Amino acid sequence: MNSQLEKIKNEAIAAIGRARDENTLTQAEIRALGRKGALTEFLRDLGRLAPEQRRAAGEEGNALKKELESVITRRRAELQKIAASGLAEREWLDVTAPGRELPAGHLHLTTQAIREITSIFSRLGYNCVSYPEVEWDWYAFESLNMPKDHTARDEWETFFLSGPSHHKFGRLVLTPHTSSGQVREMERGELPIRMVNIAKCYRRQSDVNHLPMFHQFEGLLIDKNIAITHLKGTLDYFAREFFGAGRRTRLRPFHFRFTEPSFEIDVSCGVCGGTGESRGGRCRVCKQGWLELGGAGMVHPNVLRAGGVDPREWGGFAFGWGVERTRMMKSAANIDDIRVLYKNDARFLEQF
Ligand code: PHE
Repeated sequence: MNSQLEKIKNEAIAAIGRARDENTLTQAEIRALGRKGALTEFLRDLGRLAPEQRRAAGEEGNALKKELESVITRRRAELQKIAASGLAEREWLDVTAPGRELPAGHLHLTTQAIREITSIFSRLGYNCVSYPEVEWDWYAFESLNMPKDHTARDEWETFFLSGPSHHKFGRLVLTPHTSSGQVREMERGELPIRMVNIAKCYRRQSDVNHLPMFHQFEGLLIDKNIAITHLKGTLDYFAREFFGAGRRTRLRPFHFRFTEPSFEIDVSCGVCGGTGESRGGRCRVCKQGWLELGGAGMVHPNVLRAGGVDPREWGGFAFGWGVERTRMMKSAANIDDIRVLYKNDARFLEQF
């Protein structure tokens, strides 16, 4: 074979073999068979050869042209097939596969806690009630043994609503605590009483430990022959059910105008088990073995009277504290700023 043709053939076959897609194949084709392609130019220049060589070189050149054309056609078909099968792989779809589930979200941890608290107390026979969040001064303070201008009111940094005041009930407030439900419940006139009132509360404070809007739950029990031991037993039951087996409560003397005697309730810390020490040092969660839950006490006779209940015949206890704080204590999470609960940052909320 003509040595020039031999070279053209080798180069063209190698280039066709290297082509991994149709584009590069077309380039190889143009380099050999295009208008200025190596083989095209060879055939055009045949006239320069001596007549005795011309015929053989012409035949060989045309045969090579046919050969290259068919090699290219075959390779092109191959490449198209590969491209098509790649496409099938990339766009593969199993029509029998189950649908992809959308993230469903879940209840906010405050709602979770409210439901859990409700269910614990309903097992003890408590009714879940709710009372106005825009409330009269009378129910929030005065009926709870806090006369007008009594300094004890300062504890509750209350939002007052502008507007007319009622001759008996006073001004309108946003409920600063759920204790406003106590006298409302007594006024229904059905005794005995076992109620939990879970509602939003509002106080003029906002810092790492306080929210201007938060939730409290209030328990009220009115019956005959009720003693502090009943209160203690109820609180212990709640602590075990909500926080877990082995948790205890303790009552510390305190003062509220609407209970007598009054207590603050602590629950034993779940991390150190009430000892105040863990991992050879001071417990990082409670520092002293106990976590403060909230207030409680035996209902003051003046409150019973305000609700139309005869204190010589009936008595009872009440307790109330913050849902958010209680919930955070449960996970022993060290949250540096309680306001994160209502910032709606899914990265935080999804953890609960
Ligand atoms: N209402 C009180 C508070 O907000 C708590 C409390 C409720 C105390 C019931 C005694 C009895 O702090």
